[in-house]
Order: sequence, then C-alpha cells, then structure tokens
Amino acid sequence: MNRRSFFKFSWGAVGLTALVSAVGVSLAAVVRFLVPSVFYEPPQTFKIGDPADYPFGPPTFLVEEKIFVFRDRDKGFAVASAVCTHLGCTVAYFPSDQRFHCPCHGSVFGPNGLVQHGPAPRPLEWFEVTLARDGMLRVDKDKVVPPTYRLMV
Ligand code: FES
Repeated sequence: MNRRSFFKFSWGAVGLTALVSAVGVSLAAVVRFLVPSVFYEPPQTFKIGDPADYPFGPPTFLVEEKIFVFRDRDKGFAVASAVCTHLGCTVAYFPSDQRFHCPCHGSVFGPNGLVQHGPAPRPLEWFEVTLARDGMLRVDKDKVVPPTYRLMV
C-alpha cells in the first residue's frame, strides 16, 4: 500500500466511523423520543403482613407505604393515609391527643382524618384493608373507604 492509498483508506475509515456514530446517536434519540417518560408508581395493592403483627392501641406507621395501621380490639383494622392533603407531606400521629399533625404547614386532622386546622383542603384518606387468602392483611390504595370502615379479623 502506497502513501496515497493509505491516506485514502484512513479518511474513508474515519468518515465511515463518523457516519455510523451519527446514525447510531440519531436512532437512539428517536427511540428515546418514542418511549414515553412515564412515572411508574409502586403497586397500589400490597400486603402488610400478619394481623397478629399489629398491636392494639396506637397505630403502626409503615414508612415505605406511608400509611397508619390501626388495630382496635372491638372495631378491627383500619388503614389511614399518612399523606397530607395540602402538599403531600407525611403527617405524624400523636397518641396524646389522638390527632394527625402535619409538620410542613401545621394542618391538624382529627382521629377520623377530618381537617381540624388548615391549610389542608380535604380529610386524610382511608384505604380498604382486606384479608388475603394466605391470611395476610392486604391494603388497596385505589379503594378509598369511609373512616368508619373496619376489617374484623
Ligand atoms: S403539606 Fe401538610 S399542611 Fe402543607
């Protein structure tokens, strides 16, 4: 291979590499454009364990699920959302006054989740809790129930 052929071949290889790279990047951009940017939420129905794992008395707070699980000896199980209806902060339950307090802007919710002090515009949500076939508690966040809803186990 003489010098002229070598340079011809080299520039051809460089050009071909640049072309393939440009086409590859363009295809990747098109594929990225066609795939929607979807926010994948965690499943809204999930199991929270054995009923016997929950004590009577003050509710158990499940951090990941952002719910409070109430277990009352006479009334059974109830599940309340821990998400404030104002801007979505996580509320805390105070057994001393049996109310939910939002640390962000001071909303206060009564024991049944009703707003007692704003700025929250709506009560806390209560979710359906059922018993799965395997005996575990199952919560469905897509099914909002009245605060009086209870699961007797
Ligand atoms: S987020 Fe709870 S009061 Fe604003």
